[in-house]
Amino acid sequence: MNICVIGTGYVGLVTGVCLAEIENNVICVDNIKEKINKLASGESTIYEPGIEELLKKNIKNNRLSFTTDISKAINRSEVIYICVGTPSLFNGQANLKFIEDVATEIGKYINGNKIIVNKSTVPIGSGDWVSMVISESIERNNPVKDIDFHVVSNPEFLREGSAISDTLFPDRIVIGSSSKEVVDKMTELYKPIIDQSFDCPKGIERLIPKGKKIPVVKSDLTSAEMIKYAANSFLATKVSFINEIANICEKVGADILKVSEGMGLDRRIAPEFLNAGIGWGGSCFPKDIQALSYIAGEYGIIPQILNSVINVNTGQRQKIVKKVQDELKIVKGKTIAILGISFKPDTDDVRESPSIDIMNNLAALGARIKFYDPIVKVKPEALDKKVLICNDAYTAAADSELLLLATEWKEFLKLDFIKIKELMSKPIIIDGRNFLDRDYLEKKGFKYIGIGR
Ligand SMILES: NC(=O)c1ccc[n+]([C@@H]2O[C@H](COP(=O)([O-])OP(=O)(O)OC[C@H]3O[C@@H](n4cnc5c(N)ncnc54)[C@H](O)[C@@H]3O)[C@@H](O)[C@H]2O)c1
Repeated sequence: MNICVIGTGYVGLVTGVCLAEIENNVICVDNIKEKINKLASGESTIYEPGIEELLKKNIKNNRLSFTTDISKAINRSEVIYICVGTPSLFNGQANLKFIEDVATEIGKYINGNKIIVNKSTVPIGSGDWVSMVISESIERNNPVKDIDFHVVSNPEFLREGSAISDTLFPDRIVIGSSSKEVVDKMTELYKPIIDQSFDCPKGIERLIPKGKKIPVVKSDLTSAEMIKYAANSFLATKVSFINEIANICEKVGADILKVSEGMGLDRRIAPEFLNAGIGWGGSCFPKDIQALSYIAGEYGIIPQILNSVINVNTGQRQKIVKKVQDELKIVKGKTIAILGISFKPDTDDVRESPSIDIMNNLAALGARIKFYDPIVKVKPEALDKKVLICNDAYTAAADSELLLLATEWKEFLKLDFIKIKELMSKPIIIDGRNFLDRDYLEKKGFKYIGIGR
């Protein structure tokens, strides 16, 4: 099929590349020219394992191209994906400005019957609103008035860091539309994935046996939109829950690692998202749970669980700062090393990263902060200007009185902790992800502080 993907961020780029990989003709659009130029030359604009190989391969096969010309892309496509951002407004509400801009452009340039796929995470009811914006734009801007289009909700569940695998081997595909014809067309588009009939690209591990079917949830538009918000809110709830249990473990002397293991082996609970740590962040959980809480408020519902999940998460970041204060007493003038700034490993995404919040709080208390991240090489704007960026973990650790591991990058397991101990002025480690080998570090003379143990 001829497909156009609008927005080439984490979701749009991965979607475009994977749809090309299953033999569609895909044109990706973004309004940032430098991004498009870079992508067109085969260079990825995001750090995502495996993406660059698939990008190059599909450009070479003439199945994938990039443009800033949205009219050209819309004109030649039967299916148009909306993959632009939906960040939070100051009150927690989702900002739909980017979606509105794109819907207006679609209305302006649409030249025949098309399916508009909303892959961005949007508030419940947005599908109908997008239809309205497109219709109004057709009315105002488009010389052709008699156009039949359908908006379908197809929420995205990929995780940054394993986005290609998550797209090719999803747990489920959700298609929300009132039109059977549209649902059938979308099912046909995803057939190679649903049937797992595609040839697994080189370098990507086949996670689901060939021929095994992927479940497809066909629903109305509103339910599809709700599935996405509810799923993210539930995952965030699991993390906040285990962090609360970890805080109790610390007081009663239990070990959260054993507690999580014992809980997670129960199939009704499952082990995923039961890792205690410094709290959740990223570009999705914070904004999605806030948006759902806001929507509930619009209907007079006080979403007590959602609000608690947010509060526990904010509190968890503060608890880490408190742990640092407990160890160092006076934080002012002390040097602290932070390992990891991305909100989780295997991504360069720093949006709403708990590490940034913690660094800013410690900097505000007068600490001198040095951080190192394996992939993030530019200081994010949200970071206090006084925080220093280092080229390696050893430079960050030098002269530090405390080291906080904030992101569980695998490369941190390979660090020479004997050297780090020599470089630090006090050997104290707070392992914010319960990731390092406590016994080993203690044997080497570190004071090791984990979360909930
Ligand atoms: N990042 C994730 O892990 C993830 C997972 C699931 C769902 N989502 C949802 O998917 C959506 C996109 O997320 P993302 O992380 O890819 O965002 P992003 O910010 O990384 O990318 C958005 C892209 O859209 C482009 N854009 C904005 N306005 C445009 C316009 N008018 N025309 C063309 N391009 C335009 C931007 O330049 C940017 O490249 C969000 O709603 C998000 O909640 C994200």
